[in-house]
Parts: sequence; C-alpha cells; structure tokens
Amino acid sequence: MNDGQLATIAHAVGTPVYVYDAVLIRERYAALAAALTRRFPTHVHYAVKANSNLAILALLQGLGAGADIVSGGELFRVRAAGFAPGAVVFSGVGKTDEEIRDALAAGIGMINVESEAEAERVAALAAAAGCTARIGIRVNPDVLAETHPYTQTGAKGMKFGVPLDRVSVLARRVADHPHATLVCIGMHIGSQIIAGAPYRAGAERLASLVASLRADGITTLEAVDVGGGLGIAYHAGAAVLDPEDFADAVAPLHDATGLPILVEPGRYLVGPAGVLLTRVLFRKQAGGRDFAIADAGMNDLLRPSLYQAIHPIRVVGTAAGASPEEMDVVGPICETGDFLGLRRELAGATAGALLAIEAAGAYGFSMSSQYNSRRRPAEVLVDGDRWGVVRSRERLEDLTAGETATPRWRHEEEAA
Ligand SMILES: Cc1ncc(COP(=O)(O)O)c(C=O)c1O
Repeated sequence: MNDGQLATIAHAVGTPVYVYDAVLIRERYAALAAALTRRFPTHVHYAVKANSNLAILALLQGLGAGADIVSGGELFRVRAAGFAPGAVVFSGVGKTDEEIRDALAAGIGMINVESEAEAERVAALAAAAGCTARIGIRVNPDVLAETHPYTQTGAKGMKFGVPLDRVSVLARRVADHPHATLVCIGMHIGSQIIAGAPYRAGAERLASLVASLRADGITTLEAVDVGGGLGIAYHAGAAVLDPEDFADAVAPLHDATGLPILVEPGRYLVGPAGVLLTRVLFRKQAGGRDFAIADAGMNDLLRPSLYQAIHPIRVVGTAAGASPEEMDVVGPICETGDFLGLRRELAGATAGALLAIEAAGAYGFSMSSQYNSRRRPAEVLVDGDRWGVVRSRERLEDLTAGETATPRWRHEEEAA
C-alpha cells in the first residue's frame, strides 16, 4: 500500500478508516505455512479474534487456512465467509450451552475444552443431540511467556487450560464417554511472544502428556495444538519470532508423537498488514505538552490504552521542509488514557494532516467499540492497485439499534 492509495482512500471513505493489505497477508501466510510444513505436517487455524472482517476471513480461507474461534458469533462469521465447519476449532474458556449446541450441530472440527465441567457439558450436549463431540483438551502447561501480563495465558493460576496434573484423569473420562472422542491435546501460552523458549518448554510438556495418555491406552489423538501467539514488530528493528525459529521450537513435539501440529496464529498473519488512518483535527499546547488531536480514539484502537502498546505513527505524504516536533497523538474521547501515541516525533502533523497508525491489522477493529457514542470506523481492503470497502462506517442509527426509550414493562407475576 503506498501513500497515494492511502490518501485516496481517506479522501473517498473518510477517517478514521482501517486499511488492510491483502498482498501482505498472503505473503505472511505463505511464509508461515512454508516454515511449518518444511518441518512437520501442519494445520494452520487462523485466530478469528485478531481481525474478523468477512473479507479477511474469506482471504485466509481461500489460502487454505482453517479457523480458530472463541464464540458463537465467530462461528457465524466463519460460516458466512465460507469455512467448512470441519475446518474450525472452537477455543475459549467459557462456552454457553447454545454455543456448544450450535457448534455440534454444525459439525465443528473440534471443541477445545478448558475444564472438567466444560468437558462434561460438551459430552452431555452431544449425547442429547445424538452425536459424538470431537474434543481437544487445552492444557495449562505452566509456562510463563514474556509478554504483556494481560496476554500471558500459560502459567499456573491463570484462568486458562486444564492444570497439568489433572489432564490424565480428564482425558480418561473423555475417552470413556460414548459421545466424546479425544482428538487433540494443546496449549495456547499467550500473545505477542518473541522467544522460542516458552514454546519449546510447553511442547516438551505436551509430548510427555501424549506419551502418558498413550501408555494409558488412549489411541484416538489426531493432532497436537501449540496455539498462536507469534509476535510482530511494533517498531523498526524490534525483535520478532521468526516462523523458522517457532517451527524449530515446536518440531520436537511432532518428532516425539508423530502427530501433525495445529497452530492458531492471529496477529502474525494480519497485524502488520493493517493501518488505521486518522486525520489531525487540531493542534494544542498545554502545560508544556504539545498535542495532535486526532479523529480516531481509544474506541477505534484500544491497544495503546489497554496494553500501553506502541504503534508506529507517521504522517502520510509528509510536507516537504517540515521539521519534526515532539507531540502526543490523542483522541477525542473523554479519558486521559485516550491516546494513540505519546512523545512522538512527527513532521508536518498540522491540522488536516493524515496520520497512519501502523501495525494495526490485529486486535484493532475487532476490539473497537462505540464508546462515547462514536460510530465504528470503515474498513477497506487493498489488493495491489485496487481497493474496496469491506465494512461501511456505521451510521448514526447503528448507535441506537435495538434500544428503546419506552420499554414494554414486565411485572414480577408475569415473569414468574
Ligand atoms: C486460544 C487462542 N488461540 C490463538 C490466539 C491467537 O493469538 P495471536 O493473535 O497472538 O496469534 C488466541 C489469542 O488470544 C487465543 O486465545
């Protein structure tokens, strides 16, 4: 995507707008798939939560990816985008009966359970539906990945996964259930991970678990799941986890078990392929600080406020001769935590200038909200020299959809 295209899109569609690069997503998918398949048989299941726009889903489905979902809403999306239900893995720590029933009825590829109670619920609902649930157990391997505390998920005491010492009993229970088959043992240890070591440690633990389950007579395993989490560069020169190094870290799990390795990457595939375009509304000096007040805020891109994430910011088509100035790029929302970037050196970020917030393709739009009754932004897909809107900017009417100022009041007796 070049600056000319970005300026044209901002002019035609307005700002804020997310813009995604289809070519880069294809390249990243190909690089990851090549690194993995060189080492072991693999299934790539795109983690839909990273960016769930239908056009992105359809693009990845077309490349051969399966999907990793965490809600009934994501199941609805992946089906709408053309994924076969058998190519979908259902993860997540708290699935409702309705979600489990719908997934079973669709013929979901696998449900990753995260507790004994959930496994029992899935098996019972499968029995009621007269089908057999294909179950994976997400293990908490007690591995701490060095990343933001909010995106660590594999250490003891966290809400995710089944504790290591309880997996064998649960696996036996699933294996013995007439309406369940244990098809996978897996983990997901966190997000934005830039080192191979925690994957290697987790993979070792999964390998010994698989060995002990087999020793216990369980012969139905079809794959091992090492989750997602591969980090990306949020600034020039940042350390990242190369797909080859990731493959090296988890390959021993295949070598030890002979099983294909399932991966669930989200950010790696789409993060670098998205920018959020926003226009500077005003400049302001106050208390010795210089602010560029943009028309995008924390409702559009939450990561800086939530994780203190640092996204590269640049002026699209920098004005010749402008010299860099330090400023805070902030949004219009009534929160001091509403910022897109602090103490940034930008040249030509005058009122009306177009800013590109880079590396925003993952957990950008998908974490957006209507806070402050702001309409969620438009989304555009660029593919070489063509581009198209893949989600329109919300209308004012979308803000009040489903609401009423005049409820149909119900009374205690009626509810009972
Ligand atoms: C179960 C599961 N798999 C995969 C992912 C994708 O992570 P990432 O986007 O870091 O690859 C997540 C993210 O939270 C997850 O919870």
